Amino acid sequence: MINDLIEISKQAGKLIKEGFGKNLQVNYKTNEINLVTQIDKASEKLIIDFIKNKFPSHSILAEEGGGVKNDSEYLWVVDPLDGTTNFTHGLPIFAVSIGVQKNNETIAGVVFDVMRDVIYSAELGSGAFANSSKLNVTDTGKLNHSLLVTGFPYNIAENPDHAFERFIALTKKSRGVRRLGSAAIDFCYLASGVFDGFWEVNLQPWDICAGKLIVEEAGGLVTDFECKQIDIYSKKILCTNNKIHNQIIDVMNELSY
Ligand code: IPD
Ligand code: CA
Ligand code: CA
Repeated sequence: MINDLIEISKQAGKLIKEGFGKNLQVNYKTNEINLVTQIDKASEKLIIDFIKNKFPSHSILAEEGGGVKNDSEYLWVVDPLDGTTNFTHGLPIFAVSIGVQKNNETIAGVVFDVMRDVIYSAELGSGAFANSSKLNVTDTGKLNHSLLVTGFPYNIAENPDHAFERFIALTKKSRGVRRLGSAAIDFCYLASGVFDGFWEVNLQPWDICAGKLIVEEAGGLVTDFECKQIDIYSKKILCTNNKIHNQIIDVMNELSY
């Protein structure tokens, strides 16, 4: 199955790359910062047609609504273009993210970093890879030596769940906090040892599914902000190299709103 994920991610990535920098039809979703383009939709259609053709009995959950609910133990979770705001503005940081669950457990995930031409992949129990190189999280043990990354949801103007306070506190306690605009890539850079920690609120299942498995298979820890296990539907996610996890949670717990 992993080869199917890689193949369709590459096909979708090619379509996205061809659309990059070209005339885009940009529409708003929930508000004026939540964008969708014809390329998001075309990428989703390509991926869904592939799955329906090869795995007609499987269910699909896809961001732009083209999914299908079947009576199957398999669920494909698809973000056809993660980083649409970057894509729309010409910033070359965006990805295709596809995970597969069997009985609610993620068994395979692929993130294609389109402009860097890197396939991040993982199968449950078999490690995580960037193309063919095995991935490992860092062994940084101190928060003040750590580089972190976060993202903000499209309702950030409402400061959901005190997102700004958490950002300020962790900026003060770490070596830096980056904001790349693609959660799928945030997960993969953590798995690769670029970042030591990543947190965000209000991510969606298609943002989380493949990336969470890739981080875990690279030796990282993924929980909520209370160190509890999460699934792909969780609204709070904290991923680290395992070593700085509690230090981040301590900073979060010290916040008084
Ligand atoms: C978004 C990106 C971004 C994150 C947002 C997501 P989209 O996904 O992953 O990094 O901060 O919460 O919604 O809309 O570009 O697929
Ligand atoms: Ca996304
Ligand atoms: Ca998307």
